[in-house]
Amino acid sequence: MTNAEDLDRIAIRKRGTVAFFDRVAGKYDRSGPRFFSYFGQRLVDLAGLPSGAQILDLASGRGAVLFPAAAAVGPQGQITGVDLSEQMVVELTQEIQHLGVSNITVRQMDVENLQFSDTSFDFIFCGFGLFFFPQLELALAEMRRVLRPGGRLAVSLWDQSMDDQWAWFYQEVQAHLPPDPTAKPVPSRPPSGELDTLAGLERALGEAGFRDVRVTLEFHDFVYTDDNDWWEALWTHWTRMALERIEQVNGAEGLALFKRDIFEHLQTMRQADGIHQLFPALLGLADK
Ligand SMILES: C[S@@+](CC[C@H](N)C(=O)[O-])C[C@H]1O[C@@H](n2cnc3c(N)ncnc32)[C@H](O)[C@@H]1O
Repeated sequence: MTNAEDLDRIAIRKRGTVAFFDRVAGKYDRSGPRFFSYFGQRLVDLAGLPSGAQILDLASGRGAVLFPAAAAVGPQGQITGVDLSEQMVVELTQEIQHLGVSNITVRQMDVENLQFSDTSFDFIFCGFGLFFFPQLELALAEMRRVLRPGGRLAVSLWDQSMDDQWAWFYQEVQAHLPPDPTAKPVPSRPPSGELDTLAGLERALGEAGFRDVRVTLEFHDFVYTDDNDWWEALWTHWTRMALERIEQVNGAEGLALFKRDIFEHLQTMRQADGIHQLFPALLGLADK
């Protein structure tokens, strides 16, 4: 049973998530090496979509999964995208219209309360979304409800080893913030519970009633053209939280100092073709 206090906490967390994604929607996955698009394509490839399938893409963002899924199922297929952020839905709808894709529909909706009948879809995708749902069990139950028997769920999440890639960055963040034992440290990733390991994700999908759960860990080396490409991309995803906190606490000058210091570190990641960073993703498939 969820009590009134829990419901308040859940609503506050969702409002914070939506406000954040409303702020980043315009540039989300549209600068830097577009790692969400890369892993979106990978997830679609792994899922093995037949042409003509009915697809639901949850937490669609700017369509990292949705567009490759539409290409895979062809004009006979139908793709429905869902996101809770109004700005994401606005940006995505504009892009769909701009591209003239006729078999994609996008709706603003909460994954934890899907407005679809039981067994409506052949495949359900959720790229880098599960860690944002405060009631994960409810979200997974909703996914299973709207998936047809024999249908397939495909999800992606960052693996916990992502922390190794960003440790130096968050050390700099903390070094640039005044010591305050009462302040929560800026989180280096969305709160993932146990979902950020291969075994943890397998367990969560199994406990939600899915069968034939198989999760793989994939690494991909992304290349930013230069320091500014890397800096611009920071504002378009989770790391923006840290930049906003530094700007809020230290002002524009403090942010400039932070930028100077992290640019020094970037030189250690530089190779002939640009700034390299390795991203580890968990890609999970499960059937109903
Ligand atoms: C990290 S983005 C992933 C977007 C896309 N799937 C991708 O792979 O690039 C997470 C998305 O989840 C959405 N989201 C968060 N909580 C949600 C909820 N309860 N219901 C629907 N969408 C939600 C956010 O608005 C955001 O667009």
